[in-house]
Amino acid sequence: MDDGGVADPGRGRGGEPGEDREDLIRVERAEKVFTVRKRTGFLRRERREVRAVDGLSFTVARGEVVGYIGPNGAGKSTTIKMLTGILTPSGGRLTVAGIDPSRERTRLARRIGVVFGQRTTLWWDLPLIDSYKLAHRMYRIPDARYRENLDRCVALLDLGALLDVPVRQLSLGQRMRGDIAAALLHDPEVLYLDEPTIGLDVVSKAKVRGFLRELNAERGTTVLLTTHDLTDIEQLCSRVMVIDHGRLMYDGPLTGLHEAGESERTLVVDLERELPPIDVPAPARVVRVDGVRQWIGFPASASAAGLVAAVAAAYPLVDLSVREPDIETVIARMYAERASA
Ligand SMILES: Nc1ncnc2c1ncn2[C@@H]1O[C@H](COP(=O)(O)OP(=O)(O)OP(=O)(O)O)[C@@H](O)[C@H]1O
Ligand SMILES: [Mg+2]
Repeated sequence: MDDGGVADPGRGRGGEPGEDREDLIRVERAEKVFTVRKRTGFLRRERREVRAVDGLSFTVARGEVVGYIGPNGAGKSTTIKMLTGILTPSGGRLTVAGIDPSRERTRLARRIGVVFGQRTTLWWDLPLIDSYKLAHRMYRIPDARYRENLDRCVALLDLGALLDVPVRQLSLGQRMRGDIAAALLHDPEVLYLDEPTIGLDVVSKAKVRGFLRELNAERGTTVLLTTHDLTDIEQLCSRVMVIDHGRLMYDGPLTGLHEAGESERTLVVDLERELPPIDVPAPARVVRVDGVRQWIGFPASASAAGLVAAVAAAYPLVDLSVREPDIETVIARMYAERASA
């Protein structure tokens, strides 16, 4: 219908020779500087600049699901707001599907979907279904397509019983699922999710993740996902970008973070009796003791065999296991290193 005539500058774009991937999102040396005025005394105000995004460059190919993580205040939401056109960059260049978001925000709106976990785009006082009906008209979604997308969202996000409930009466998790559906009714090519699982219970989280996986697999929707829940990333994203102080610190597969974070593995031993921290060959060291159980940290890159042999030779071992570094710890360490650098 309506969208059929819109040329897609992203499609068939002549890239570098041999390039077969299509970059749907392009960010080149993007900057966003906020000027904040702070009261420093009676009638005195100081102007201060916050560089929320500071020379950020990356591309996202069509069909990718990319995790976008970083500590509080790193610049994640600011990036997403620039990619939707809500905020104008102070410098650099951004394009989404060939469109400059801040210049052509309305045109871009048809091509993207956005969910801000902290805020709702739904009509607060109206039944949930009314927000969808509005989207139907606003985006001029063909009737059949609208019905199909709505039915699918209702089924997969379990919204059936909620459609006639005013949005303000929905729980946080119900509202969030409602928001995700609202962002998808017009078949966006790109979906930005800024903390879509915040405050969701375990079952709802699983539902949302399953839904997103299916959306990506079946429709090839490109997803940029910001979250503090690393399970979201582990279950959804083949690629992760870590941002801090507005700069890209890491861009690659999730597994690569282990190396970037110089992680440790842990040998957990159960001894025959309670003992003070046992002697282990450096750099391994006992990091925790609880009754007969002791936890020994050692570099993830080192072999566990030598350490196990040394412990078994000197102490009465009952049981042991080796724990891989969990991604949470790796990232916590990575953030902490950056903060102290
Ligand atoms: N409208 C604004 N005016 C002034 N400063 C802002 C504004 N929006 C964001 N900032 C500042 O820019 C920096 C980045 O904020 P942003 O919201 O992008 O962080 P974030 O990575 O999304 O963090 P969080 O994980 O807490 O959501 C912060 O220092 C924040 O205080
Ligand atoms: Mg944020």
